Amino acid sequence: MSSATPKTTAADITQATLRSFAQTPEPRTRRLLEAAVKHLHAFATEVNLTTNELIRLAEILTAAGKISDASRHEFLLISDIMGLTMVVDYNTNQKPEGAFESSVLGPFYRADAPWIEPGGDICRQENAGTSTLVSGRILSTEGTPINGAVLDIWQVPANGMYENTDPTQVEFNCRGRLKAAEDGAYRFWTVKPVPYPIPKDGPAGLILDSAERHNMRAAHIHVIVEAPGYEKVISELFVKGDLYIDSDAVFGVKESLIAEFVLHESTADAAAYGRPTPFYTVNYDFVLASGQAREEIMFSAGRA
Ligand code: BEZ
Ligand code: FE
Repeated sequence: MSSATPKTTAADITQATLRSFAQTPEPRTRRLLEAAVKHLHAFATEVNLTTNELIRLAEILTAAGKISDASRHEFLLISDIMGLTMVVDYNTNQKPEGAFESSVLGPFYRADAPWIEPGGDICRQENAGTSTLVSGRILSTEGTPINGAVLDIWQVPANGMYENTDPTQVEFNCRGRLKAAEDGAYRFWTVKPVPYPIPKDGPAGLILDSAERHNMRAAHIHVIVEAPGYEKVISELFVKGDLYIDSDAVFGVKESLIAEFVLHESTADAAAYGRPTPFYTVNYDFVLASGQAREEIMFSAGRA
């Protein structure tokens, strides 16, 4: 090669790759592919990615595929722990000031949870944890009650396991749906949620270990709120003062989603609420923005 022959640079390869995708007929697919090329190439150049590191990455992705099945989505778990899921949530689920904010759906949602009456209990077996009454109103951003809004709730009991991953629990334990009253009021009993570990036996665990990060989720109650004419919100309520509130493994905590769990221990409160002490109460209003859900997202896990 003569000294006058210009070398092909990384930038030349990026341009050639972009040209190769320029005829992609579907505009959104083209946009995604072109941006992926730009950012992947920039990543490799920024960190000077080596061939062995590229091979290792391929091995990790292969392992993620192998451990995944209909109810185990390792790529999504990796997205969760890398903060990608919450960045996508932030970019696509902006809400007006004061409206109920969204958070991760997670892999443990089950559709068609049993309906409960107002004031009913979503935990269907003894020793699920410390009783907790959650109540409040479902309101529009103008402060008017939303009649007929529906709440779909699920969480772990005190053992930190979702019922569909734990054969010792009865079907749909700590899951339920309920309707708000005409004045927007809702109330249901559950148990105080506890922090629990996300799976660590696959590549997501490998990534966490390599960074010496823990795999704990801050304690939370999953909530989906929907009402005709309003944007459906997929989100979670977190426990103020929880050990992992500032280090949730999937970055799901938002300030507005942290609720105060008030402890009740007196015999007077036991009589007033009709529950043995100790128990907690939580008051939380869900404020919905008018409109339609922008994208229907719903994958539902089955029972193991
Ligand atoms: C969950 O809260 O159920 C969850 C969310 C993300 C990853 C794993 C679990
Ligand atoms: Fe969860």
